[in-house]
Amino acid sequence: MSNLKLNLSKTARFEVFSIPDDKNVEMPTTPKRIETGSAPASRPTKTPSTASDRAKDIAPVTLNYVGADEEEVASTKPGDSATVDAKKEQVVDPWSVESEGAIDYEKLIQQFGTQRLDKNIIERFEKLTGKKAHRFLRRGIFFSHRDLSMILDLYEKGKKFYLYTGRGPSSEALHLGHTIPFHFTKWLQDVFDCPLVIQLTDDEKFLFKQELQLEECNRLAYENAKDIIACGFDLKKTFIFTNLDYIHHMYPTILKIQKLTTYNQARAIFGFTGSDNIGKSAFPAVQACPSFSQAFKIPLRGEKNMPCLIPCAIDQDAYFRMTRDVAPRLQCNKPALVHSKFFPPLQGRGGKMSGSAANSAVFLTDTPKQIKDKINKHAFSGGQDTLEKQRALGANLDVDVSYEWLTFFMEDDDRLAEIGRDYASGAMLTGDVKKELIGVLQTMVADHQVRRKEVTDDVVKAYMAVRPLEF
Ligand code: TRP
Repeated sequence: MSNLKLNLSKTARFEVFSIPDDKNVEMPTTPKRIETGSAPASRPTKTPSTASDRAKDIAPVTLNYVGADEEEVASTKPGDSATVDAKKEQVVDPWSVESEGAIDYEKLIQQFGTQRLDKNIIERFEKLTGKKAHRFLRRGIFFSHRDLSMILDLYEKGKKFYLYTGRGPSSEALHLGHTIPFHFTKWLQDVFDCPLVIQLTDDEKFLFKQELQLEECNRLAYENAKDIIACGFDLKKTFIFTNLDYIHHMYPTILKIQKLTTYNQARAIFGFTGSDNIGKSAFPAVQACPSFSQAFKIPLRGEKNMPCLIPCAIDQDAYFRMTRDVAPRLQCNKPALVHSKFFPPLQGRGGKMSGSAANSAVFLTDTPKQIKDKINKHAFSGGQDTLEKQRALGANLDVDVSYEWLTFFMEDDDRLAEIGRDYASGAMLTGDVKKELIGVLQTMVADHQVRRKEVTDDVVKAYMAVRPLEF
């Protein structure tokens, strides 16, 4: 999951990344027509210094493809409400999440052309695996997917597939938001009993973060691996790698992907400009690569075309739209995906957490006291401002961060529902809810710290050794 600045800038008004991809169709291979929308023609004059700066500054253009599969072309055309409603368009891409208020996830499903992770598929999931759905599924935190049914079909038939997820190592300590895809992936690994590869994109962070040195990115990857391992992955079934160290195994596949992707496509999906370094344009092929089992000859034991399921936050979807587009031309299966929502910052307002703002996040290194103080001081409250009013009117759960965080981390459905009821009715006060949350987080973080202590350099080496996995 990315670890980038939450940007709630009010100037967001562009739609560079809304590639029409409706009905689960990937970006057409050869754009026959690219329309630039109502955007100013000029590009930013200064060279953006970081990826998120770049994402902010990029020339606002609306790109519309009319590709080979005419009937499958999605609905976002100039004139649709998505483009007309240009005042403050929400922007969700691998480098920034911008929104004036809460993120409209329904709209993302439409814009990206993904499928809603609905009750039916969750029920099928439970029936097939015989396991109660993870709370992230029960509560709509993983809310969208591509081809998850295909993975369930395979499971039903006893066929093999593998999981792929990753992290861009740009900071020393992970915060709670970073752990969400990993906890979910660990659960999927247990439920499906399948192999897993985890990509640490030290190269990506080096290319996209002007201030970071290469050696530092590689070091952070190894540091972050410890927190990832502490989430509990099965050593026999899990291979963790940094791109810098594993690249030669992937390079043949990367080259094939690069040859099948034009600069225009990369630019349209990712918004690269002439002043971005050329490494950025090449990088998406590196993130796409682990979706193909041929890149893991040793870990996946020579499986040439093993299907892949990728759990990730929805901001990463751009990479995998591109991946799914090249897959058939590589004679490979398209990877399936499950997408999560963002974990909100303590201050609320519907963005994703920033690792750099200490007070908007709870880190896995925080002490019980730090957790308590952060929640008490900074968690945005949907409660009323006086005791009398709260008792009379109750809280607005939709904007209350403590309650929302509880929906991510409190396991007990009944207790959560009770808190929701009592807080909304005014029987509970903000302080009571914060106390519940503080308790849950203190336990969770302390448990993590115990497990992390056990992850020595040798343990990291074992997970990162290029070796056959057991499956
Ligand atoms: N680009 C991701 C990030 O910045 C890291 C990543 C690489 C990833 N491969 C992935 C995330 C696959 C999810 C799934 O965090």
